Amino acid sequence: MGLPYLKINGGNRLRGSVRVSGSKNAALPIMAATIMCDGEVTLRDVPDVSDVRSLCELLNKLGVETKRRDDGALTLVVRDEMNCKAEYDIVRKMRASICALGPLLAKRGKAQVSMPGGCAIGDRPVDLHLRAMRKLGADVDLVGGDIVAKCKRLRGIELFLGGPFGSTVLGTANAMMAASLADGVTVIEMAACEPEVVDLAGFLNACGASITGQGTPRMVVEGVKELHGCEYRIIPDRIEAGTLMIAAAITNGELKLENCRIDHLMAFVDRLNAVGVQVERGEELITVSSSRRLEPIEVTTQPFPGMPTDLQAQLMTLLCLADGNSIITEKIFPDRFLHVAELSRMGAHLHKEGPTVIVEGVKRLVGAPVMASDLRASAALLLAGMAARGTTIVNRVYHIDRGYERIDEKLRSVNADIVRCEEE
Ligand code: EPZ
Repeated sequence: MGLPYLKINGGNRLRGSVRVSGSKNAALPIMAATIMCDGEVTLRDVPDVSDVRSLCELLNKLGVETKRRDDGALTLVVRDEMNCKAEYDIVRKMRASICALGPLLAKRGKAQVSMPGGCAIGDRPVDLHLRAMRKLGADVDLVGGDIVAKCKRLRGIELFLGGPFGSTVLGTANAMMAASLADGVTVIEMAACEPEVVDLAGFLNACGASITGQGTPRMVVEGVKELHGCEYRIIPDRIEAGTLMIAAAITNGELKLENCRIDHLMAFVDRLNAVGVQVERGEELITVSSSRRLEPIEVTTQPFPGMPTDLQAQLMTLLCLADGNSIITEKIFPDRFLHVAELSRMGAHLHKEGPTVIVEGVKRLVGAPVMASDLRASAALLLAGMAARGTTIVNRVYHIDRGYERIDEKLRSVNADIVRCEEE
């Protein structure tokens, strides 16, 4: 079988309505948290993307049985607690495997998780995760590239989780999960406020945990003796929703989005409005449409409720076609700009200076063969292809399949000319 690629003929206006899938970044830590549950967990709206499949593979090795039911729900139940090791072959594919650290420690008293390396979006240290586990009373060492942690019982404590780039999403998730089964009360200061963290807290509480303050920088976790199973629905994917909004705007079309939480996207919608894109909130649908002229803007990525780094690449594509110069500054992952070189191959005028890119608007982009480098960069190239004159080939689509559920099918259903092909 040859490698798949996406072939896009640009120029079609998108029209119609699309349902946004459940959030990948909410689902992954919630799935990892089931390691701590006695009893079956049923999760609804877990997207069928390759990162979810990789995490199922890891959980299976850790003794958690996972099943996709006919109605789409994912069930998870712990069958065996012997293996506590997350091997390099899975962790290197998916950094979110680090989410197994807190649950394994808290429930089984030991964890061995391969240390994640850097990735296409830059250095991604896990020092804050390790600091949290040590503060909660675990012995943590690095042995042969693995994080090896053990504890008799974790103890609640005051934790400060801020780093040089602000709060940490998965670090907060790990601390919150571990603290749920610790003795006593844990206070997490400078906790991440992202909706995915709030969703994890909602899930843990549904399993019997006692967490308050989620969605604020100060969370309080009162340890409980055990967690039970539950049924839970994952929040809509705000990054997929934002990507689809740009798809409507960049093709000068109009899309209605079902299952979209606009309150999770306020900073992004504010920037879209500044560009001249209308986002209307209906009872159940969000309608996105755009005028012909796109205004240039300034935008800086920040932790929630600021503009998400996971939409930076896609917004850059839209700004490539604005009438003037925009300025994008990346404050979360300062090296997250691999899409700059690929967009330039399609005729974009981009000038990078440290963590800032000046986007000089051009009249049009032109189709070209391009290479996806990471999940959100591939989405940016897909968007560029839909707006460009001519044909764009996006190679290495496995990056996009990690986090967007059947994105080519969804876009085709609203009039995009996009096909998945395989190399001969
Ligand atoms: C989560 O990664 C997301 N991943 C990322 O989405 C997202 O870009 C990121 O949060 C920021 O919103 C998942 O949820 C699976 P961080 P995470 O720890 O938690 C620094 C996508 O495209 N830091 O909040 O790993 C770090 O280097 C992915 O879906 C430390 O210094 O990100 C960064 O500058 C990509 N020490 C900042 O904090 C640490 O121990 C925020 O990173 C941890 C992080």
